[in-house]
Amino acid sequence: MTMRIFVPGDSGALAVGADAVAAAITAEAARQELAVTLVRNGSRGLYWLEPLVEVETPAGRVAFGPVAPSDVPELVAALADPSPRGEGPPRGGGGAAPFTTHPLYLGLTEEIPFLKRQTRFTFARCGVVDPLSLDDYKAAGGLKGLTAALALTPEAIVDQVTQSGLRGRGGAGFPTGIKWKTVLAAEGSRKFVVTNADEGDSGTFADRMLMEGDPFVLIEGMIIAGIAVGADHGYIYSRSEYPHANDVMAKALAIAERAGLLGTDILGSGRSFSIELRIGAGAYVCGEETALLESIEGKRGQVRAKPPLPAIKGLFGAPTVINNVLSLASVPFILAEGPAAFAAVGFGRSRGTMAVQLAGNIRHGGLFETGFGITLGALVDDIGGGTATGRPVKAVQVGGPLGAYFPPALFDTPFDYEAFAARDGLIGHGGIVVFDDTVEMARQARFAMEFCAIESCGKCTPCRIGSTRGVEVVDRIIAGRDVDANAALLADLCETMKFGSLCALGGFTPYPVMSALTHFREDFGLLPPNGRMEAAE
Ligand SMILES: Cc1cc2nc3c(=O)[nH]c(=O)nc-3n(C[C@H](O)[C@H](O)[C@H](O)COP(=O)(O)O)c2cc1C
Ligand code: SF4
Repeated sequence: MTMRIFVPGDSGALAVGADAVAAAITAEAARQELAVTLVRNGSRGLYWLEPLVEVETPAGRVAFGPVAPSDVPELVAALADPSPRGEGPPRGGGGAAPFTTHPLYLGLTEEIPFLKRQTRFTFARCGVVDPLSLDDYKAAGGLKGLTAALALTPEAIVDQVTQSGLRGRGGAGFPTGIKWKTVLAAEGSRKFVVTNADEGDSGTFADRMLMEGDPFVLIEGMIIAGIAVGADHGYIYSRSEYPHANDVMAKALAIAERAGLLGTDILGSGRSFSIELRIGAGAYVCGEETALLESIEGKRGQVRAKPPLPAIKGLFGAPTVINNVLSLASVPFILAEGPAAFAAVGFGRSRGTMAVQLAGNIRHGGLFETGFGITLGALVDDIGGGTATGRPVKAVQVGGPLGAYFPPALFDTPFDYEAFAARDGLIGHGGIVVFDDTVEMARQARFAMEFCAIESCGKCTPCRIGSTRGVEVVDRIIAGRDVDANAALLADLCETMKFGSLCALGGFTPYPVMSALTHFREDFGLLPPNGRMEAAE
């Protein structure tokens, strides 16, 4: 019998040697005469364990990790050894299989606490299936949502998405159902669906991981969106820094076309939908929806003034749904399982699950999909295991480069759009970047201003000029020049940028800057609110 072995082809796994591990397994299995079928799956999102090798057993898939090519001969020998030996488990009866004593053995994959504690709606198949097998996709529940949608009116589909409470996962948290309703009602001889796969936020990788691990779910979500709003063409706007995701996506689109999932007769329904993959050059501002549309149109990625909203006048002047990868990839679940199943999970007005991405200086970095409402502290300390360096956590930046820095004193904040906003923060695309006590927060504030200056599209003055002046002001503070006066000037400048900028790049840069200034005053050479300078005593 052939043994199925899974080695991720995900970029995160490839970066730590997954290809070499896969090659070693193939060679070693041939040498030891073990019949093996190697599947290049997506990642399960447990990045500190990559390359995570999984093996199918009668009891379920078991995992080993992180596996180096030098571990492979011993691993294959253990897998090839048919004799049950030793005490204990296992499920399925008999003695423990020899591989259970292998030093890299992690047990049943689904029982690994980091995975077991998750609620996976959007990433249910990621890391499980062969990403480019439509049969795998269907066997794991794929196309159920589209089949259900094909039997509904556009209004009924939009209604279900509205009832689910789904909010855009790209950062702003705008209700997806309302956006779709606007496009459905808008006049236009053509309409478009655009996936925002630009994923420029620091510490985020969920869109990439999904496109590499389960590309058909995005395709299915886009088709449902097209049917719902009356669009027959869609674009996926990805970035050049994602070569593997782009490759998988392109292959998946070709497979979907050949299978009649895309084209002029979707699943025999007589409906049409086609998708094009477009690759941007990697400007952060091209993730902003109107700059993205400009970029698809072949122009320089510069922000458009709103109104008109893209839902009314978007791509090539036509009504356009533009949604993040995760928003669209959440839709098949909603249509398949019903909006109530999605809405049953969550916190306040934040319904369903969020793909939290744990990054930076963290022990257990990876993707953790969970219902909204879990506290920031639980994510960082409990699930993430604290810092990788073992030093105390000093700050975490949530929501990308425009997100606030929170100190551990705010770790009781529930992961929820409104709860973060109430503390002058944002959850954005769900990225959490952890810093230990060696970070200098005045330098992080400078970095935020510098980032804005570099990435600014240049359209409005508060952002274009303000960010450059902001770098200079922070530099003066770091140099110890007129610290109080310059801190006041910085706060004033942030106020101008916040309320005077045309888009959130200039408008939200004040969040990291002001949070650093507010929560880490000592790092700016300022007295803390209690008037005592700890370091000076
Ligand atoms: C500077 C800037 C960068 C952005 N980058 C992204 C991005 O990379 N991906 C994304 O989905 N949304 C990004 N957004 C948000 C988009 O403008 C838009 O809100 C989103 O694509 C809407 O989709 P959603 O409702 O599904 O979130 C960015 C916004 C700004 C202001
Ligand atoms: S805030 Fe910055 S990025 Fe946004 S429109 Fe103005 S100049 Fe462009």
